[in-house]
Amino acid sequence: MNLLLFGPPGAGKGTQSALLVERKRFIHFSTGNMLREAIREGSELGKKAKSIMDKGSLVPDSIVISLVEDELKKLKGKNFILDGFPRTVTQAEALDELMSKLGLSLDRAFFLSVPQDLIVRRLTGRRMTKDGRHVYHIEFSPPKKMGVCDVTSEELIQRPDDREEVVSSRLEAYEASTAPLKKYYEKSGILVEVNGVGSSEEVYSKIVSSMNF
Ligand code: AP5
Ligand code: MG
Repeated sequence: MNLLLFGPPGAGKGTQSALLVERKRFIHFSTGNMLREAIREGSELGKKAKSIMDKGSLVPDSIVISLVEDELKKLKGKNFILDGFPRTVTQAEALDELMSKLGLSLDRAFFLSVPQDLIVRRLTGRRMTKDGRHVYHIEFSPPKKMGVCDVTSEELIQRPDDREEVVSSRLEAYEASTAPLKKYYEKSGILVEVNGVGSSEEVYSKIVSSMNF
């Protein structure tokens, strides 16, 4: 069973992926995480991506597609979740082509819908460890001690693109480039719309109930 989770920034893609990885043993494939890893490594790709991501724009399709090409091959024979890729119709078409060459396919494309005011609250209140592995929210899932990770005791940080002034650019990029994916996956017959409002557990139940997995 192979899934795509898409939707606006802050819709809960990462949160739901983490639950599916933990409970259903999916492999998590997130281009956002791959790009942030490249930034931490200081690679050429990372340097290029950083200035684009920090201002809330999308990294060009050609860069993202070449980034995922080799990584997709590693997913063969596994159950995986694509999180944040594809996020343009061009990327979706490239993905279809790559997957058919590899003999892979997507079974469900879950669209998580969340209203804009809640998205802004979720993003501006998100805090995480430097490597992004442990994610909190100052209001909805706070750590036991403010600003400190429960698991690693590290200081929590705010993602640079979660600052309020950047969030509006991310929402614009989403509307212009990613929202059209809904039609794309509706046409291919695998779209499942999930209301992303409610607790993480409530949203998780809705996803799992439409999966038979
Ligand atoms: P990426 O890292 O993919 O970010 P995004 O799509 O903007 O989404 P987020 O990770 O911000 O949100 P999420 O839906 O995962 O929410 P989460 O579960 O963490 O991409 C970042 C950037 O990289 C892009 O802007 C772009 O520049 C570039 N990029 C990446 N992929 C690309 C691509 N394919 N093409 C071009 N550019 C690309 O939740 C958010 C917060 O809400 C958390 O604090 C969480 O605890 C809380 N929360 C979640 N669910 C709930 C709930 N049900 N109830 C209460 N709180 C909740
Ligand atoms: Mg995420």
